[in-house]
Amino acid sequence: MKKVYVTRPIMEAGINLLKEHFEVTVQPEERDLTDEEFLSTIKGYDGVLTMLTNKVDENTFKTAPSVKVFANYAVGFNNIDVDTASDYGVAITNTPNALTMATAELAWALLFAASRHIIPSDKLTRAGKFTGWDPLGFLGQPISGKKLGIIGVGRIGSAFARMAKGFNMEIHYNSPSRKKDFEKETGAIYEDLYEMLPKVDFLAIHCPYNLSTHHLIGEKELALMKPNAILINTARGAIIDEAELYKALKQKSIYGAGLDVYENEPEIYPGLTNLDNVVTSSHIGSGTYDSREAMSLLAAKSIVDILINNKIPENCLNKEVF
Ligand code: GLV
Ligand code: GLV
Repeated sequence: MKKVYVTRPIMEAGINLLKEHFEVTVQPEERDLTDEEFLSTIKGYDGVLTMLTNKVDENTFKTAPSVKVFANYAVGFNNIDVDTASDYGVAITNTPNALTMATAELAWALLFAASRHIIPSDKLTRAGKFTGWDPLGFLGQPISGKKLGIIGVGRIGSAFARMAKGFNMEIHYNSPSRKKDFEKETGAIYEDLYEMLPKVDFLAIHCPYNLSTHHLIGEKELALMKPNAILINTARGAIIDEAELYKALKQKSIYGAGLDVYENEPEIYPGLTNLDNVVTSSHIGSGTYDSREAMSLLAAKSIVDILINNKIPENCLNKEVF
């Protein structure tokens, strides 16, 4: 029987599916293996179900040549060197679609929380400091009818945009190419990033992280944003220069931010979490029961397809290995 290793406990549906076909080992602890532990543990396995916190690179393929598939329990795959995997004949899969709505919804949760000071207001009530309705208390930014900028309109970005229609927002977007169907559906206006930045009241990041999106939003870009603008990031932390974002928030050159991801997770830029104009969730974008269950089934199914059915799954990122 082939052997599959799962690097963290995940929702049962996927584990049960794997157990129908493989000898399955689930790393039991509620922590990530260190890079060294990961490498020595996966030796001899045929497939590995990885978290976005596991680094998979040339060293991995060399150290564990028995592993023919890494199924990443995430849609983002910047933790995996996919090109080199192809050179070694190793298949890589991710979990698209399974978490689209959950992540788009979290982006809205952050947008609402940042706009309306939900966290500071909640802190005040918990501290027993609510002294009654305050005519000037916690005034925030309106959302309906405002201008929304979106960077990246793949599955998540376009789901986020569709939800924005309910608030009658004017949608601007930037992506590597124009998407006519998306424009028709949402009325979104395609713009160069630098055209869009000075216009929008909200900017939501939904692009993948790679060399071309590293620090896409830095000092220069933040300086172009409006003083009432709110920046939302549920994609990957390093798309924003976190040190520059800290400065902008501290100086209030932008109004606020809602962040689910950080440049050096689990570290967060010193002082960022002391600011009242930022909402900081803990990389929970895909964290709904439905989404995590769908992710676990999709990741497991990918491994079964590749190792048992000799089938190339839709969500294989390097189909050329077959
Ligand atoms: C989560 O961050 C994912 O990429 O799925
Ligand atoms: C991810 O699912 C995306 O394409 O936005």
